[in-house]
Amino acid sequence: MKKVITYGTYDLLHQGHINLLRRAKGLGDYLIVGVTTDKYDYERGKLNVRNNVVERIKAIEETGLADKIIIEEYVGQKIDDIQKYDVDIFAVGSDWEGEFDYLRDYCEVVYLPRTEGVSSTQLREESMPEVRLGIIGTGSIARRMVEESKYVSGISITAVFNPDIQEAIAFSQKYNIPQVFDNIEDFSNVISAAYVASPHPTHYPYTKYLLNRGIHVLNELPFSLKESEARDLFEIADSRNLVLMDAIKTAYCPAFKHMVSLIKSGLIGEVVDVEAAQSTLEQTPRKLDATQAGGGMSEDASFSLLPIMMLLGDNYTDIRFVSKMKDGVDIYTYCSLVYPTATASFKIGLGIKTEGDLVVSGTKGYLYVPAPWWKPSYFEARFEDISKNKKYFYAYEGEGLRYELQEFVTSIFYSKKHNVQLPHSLTISMARVQEDFHSGKNRVIID
Ligand code: CTP
Repeated sequence: MKKVITYGTYDLLHQGHINLLRRAKGLGDYLIVGVTTDKYDYERGKLNVRNNVVERIKAIEETGLADKIIIEEYVGQKIDDIQKYDVDIFAVGSDWEGEFDYLRDYCEVVYLPRTEGVSSTQLREESMPEVRLGIIGTGSIARRMVEESKYVSGISITAVFNPDIQEAIAFSQKYNIPQVFDNIEDFSNVISAAYVASPHPTHYPYTKYLLNRGIHVLNELPFSLKESEARDLFEIADSRNLVLMDAIKTAYCPAFKHMVSLIKSGLIGEVVDVEAAQSTLEQTPRKLDATQAGGGMSEDASFSLLPIMMLLGDNYTDIRFVSKMKDGVDIYTYCSLVYPTATASFKIGLGIKTEGDLVVSGTKGYLYVPAPWWKPSYFEARFEDISKNKKYFYAYEGEGLRYELQEFVTSIFYSKKHNVQLPHSLTISMARVQEDFHSGKNRVIID
């Protein structure tokens, strides 16, 4: 009996897939179809697959063409499967020509003709009205977002806004953005969603304006420096059924999401402490400008508050800050929080350098995320019995902004009201921490 194997995602099963399966089956007597898991697809950069693995397997089953269906969940699995199932032929569409020649050491490799004019990507795009994204602000984070947007489907960057029109023109020319504005009203007329990456004090007024114009907003951090403002923005978004997201990129990347799930599932027991640090010696003038709400806390506290609040919540009973200041901004801040059953602390430095890692301590073990933990691709669970230690690896592509952008687009598409990766209540609490700090509450200044 000649056994053939083929693999794919098979999202929104279409005629191209069916033709391919039929051709593959025609090469032998028994067809094995490998269907990728959701996690594997996400890790290899396919962020927008519509059907889950159960739905995709069911669709393959219903074609009646597969004699056996298996799931593909890791790099290198094809070789294992070929040996395990004693496969004679590996078949795949011609869009993969040459990619799988390395399997010739194990079996025959056949590239079958691909059906022209249909693909899952195309079907996903056709079924989804494209998000017309406008960008407010033309700084380095906005540049990185434009570059990352190429990896997210269902989005086109339509316009850029900057009150300094020359800046906006230079940005649009560099990134081929069709429309340029220095007038916010005109800008808001041509977009359906916006990424607000302007100077910190302008986040609130721009975001509020856009929401009131019916535009979904992805708001750069710090989301807001005042609790009442953050609350106000979410109230507007909720009342208008708009998506409003806090752009803490770490919250949306695979490693962080899984880390939170593992800890919440009890991997290290009850969490009793979270300790984070982040520092840089890169002191750009804007980061040190008090009039632009510069300083370590405004710049970076959102990152450290993310694991603290995701794991311990926001019902802390005490919060204290110790800061070193320069020209009215903090260049170093140590913050400690006391919870009813746990503690947390973080260190932030602009102009000091320290180990930027994250440690989550629990009653059964601890989780260690090495620097730069806010762009995680790896972490380790460690226990008293070191034979139980386990390392976890994940993809973290590019600047990591594609994950939050994909989440933003998906939330718009599915009209998602709740952000499970970062609940609105926590964003509001983070704004409260910012407000307490900037008002000098419980803050000690050291020389
Ligand atoms: N395939 C094909 N003809 C098409 C589309 C896919 O022959 N028009 C084949 C691929 O070459 C592969 C298998 O179907 O062998 C599964 O491909 P998959 O990546 O799941 O489908 P695509 O439609 O190409 O998906 P996407 O657009 O997400 O890449």
